[in-house]
Amino acid sequence: MATILVNGKKREVQAPTDTPLLYVLRNDLELSGPQFGCGLAQCGACSVLLDGKEVRSCITPLSAVRDKEVTTLEGLGARWAKQKGLTAEQTAKTLHPVQQAWIDEQAPQCGFCQNGMMIKATELLERNAAPSLAEIKEAFTSGVSPHLCRCGTYTAIIQAVQLAATQMVGKREVL
Ligand code: FES
Ligand code: FES
Repeated sequence: MATILVNGKKREVQAPTDTPLLYVLRNDLELSGPQFGCGLAQCGACSVLLDGKEVRSCITPLSAVRDKEVTTLEGLGARWAKQKGLTAEQTAKTLHPVQQAWIDEQAPQCGFCQNGMMIKATELLERNAAPSLAEIKEAFTSGVSPHLCRCGTYTAIIQAVQLAATQMVGKREVL
């Protein structure tokens, strides 16, 4: 048994500590944002934030997330709301600007890869508020491995990241 912090809440899980985090999130905690794509850290579909850094949950054992904060796609809105100091009522209605930009740009096609794309975009924009085109491409193609999209939505993803960056900067100034 282990206690882990997921999307701001402590959760107790019964899985053995060598269980991949992805299985715990999907099977034990019923969080269906992270997807099983390759299971080998090659595609990015399973990505989550671990203390704000993208990790591939398919190869991350449960034991590696103790004393760290896991944020899944489901927790992005609350993560943004906390950063902005919003009330609980506001938080319940809040999407992360990255999620809103994905909707506004209609980025997904089949959608399978998009969890990882939004997680990567959030990680990028939290450390670089105004990334250049080259920096966006670098973020999605470096690190553990590139984020892969079989539907070829890369152009829409770049546009969504650029829109989210604009929204986040704008809201930073307003709030
Ligand atoms: S399922 Fe984890 S990287 Fe592909
Ligand atoms: S939208 Fe289908 S795999 Fe990316």
